[in-house]
Amino acid sequence: MLICTTPAEMHAACCSLRAQARASSAAGPTLGLVPTMGALHQGHLSLVAAARAQCDLVAASIFVNPTQFGPNEDFSKYPRTFDADCAQLESAGVDLLFAPSADTMYPLGNATFVDPGPIADRLDGASRPGHFRGVATIVTRLFSIIQPDCAFFGQKDAAQVAVLRQITRDLNLPVELVICPTVREADNLAISSRNRYLSAAERLRARVLYRALAAARNLAASGETRADALRAAMLDTFTAPDPSPEARDIPAHIDYAAVVDPDTLLPLTDTAQGALLAIAAFIGATRLIDNLLLPPR
Ligand code: PAJ
Repeated sequence: MLICTTPAEMHAACCSLRAQARASSAAGPTLGLVPTMGALHQGHLSLVAAARAQCDLVAASIFVNPTQFGPNEDFSKYPRTFDADCAQLESAGVDLLFAPSADTMYPLGNATFVDPGPIADRLDGASRPGHFRGVATIVTRLFSIIQPDCAFFGQKDAAQVAVLRQITRDLNLPVELVICPTVREADNLAISSRNRYLSAAERLRARVLYRALAAARNLAASGETRADALRAAMLDTFTAPDPSPEARDIPAHIDYAAVVDPDTLLPLTDTAQGALLAIAAFIGATRLIDNLLLPPR
């Protein structure tokens, strides 16, 4: 696995790997990109596996992007596990790793940002002002440096998916977005780099996110299509006493519980045409998110 640390080096390495692969592939090689912030886990590795299965060449990036963190968020304490990440990417078959410094991605004097418009203020964007502008900017910059044919993202971050779909469409970015299912622990907690912040009791309490989503999905499966009723099922489950006594005293509060259109992130009144059930909550001091897609009836 080749590791590049500057945009110029990465761009040149992508071009030369493609040229080498072209010699052995008549159709022209496809390059897949898996953007990450490191602290890798099975969720990230599932994206690498999907890229490996679908593309001739696989690039990954590790960059804790400062512009997507708010002033009171966890940028400085975000887990950084570079050596372990490299070992995992190497054994997953990644060809090229881009691990730039903040100075090379945002050099002195750079001033161009990608503003996704009103969608950036919905769901996570409502409680994390500027977050999706930062995500849209870094992903656009990665696309322009690496020029992948396909880029792999997780359904776990459903609002991020909607924002990236929109900017890809609006800017005519020549890349196919491939969205992969959420990877979960055995008890259904969505795997996240932030799960490592949880104490043992908070880890138990964190199961409430999926329980709330599943309650709404089960109600939908019984024929309910009113978004208000599904949202109420999420809230009731969230506020009920925790089934684990050890978790009962753990502070948990909802940031949002929403039933929205998966493309626009706007609230729905009826879910017969399909819906995104999405939840974000603080378990202790740790903010976690999860979601489920309801198919059209
Ligand atoms: P990060 O949180 O490191 O996630 C990188 C990718 O892994 C994202 O596409 C995310 O949706 C996916 N992912 C995380 N947990 C997952 C899980 N349990 N199952 C499936 N996929 C999962 O998302 C970001 O980084 C950043 O915003 C980034 C896109 C890299 C831009 O900085």
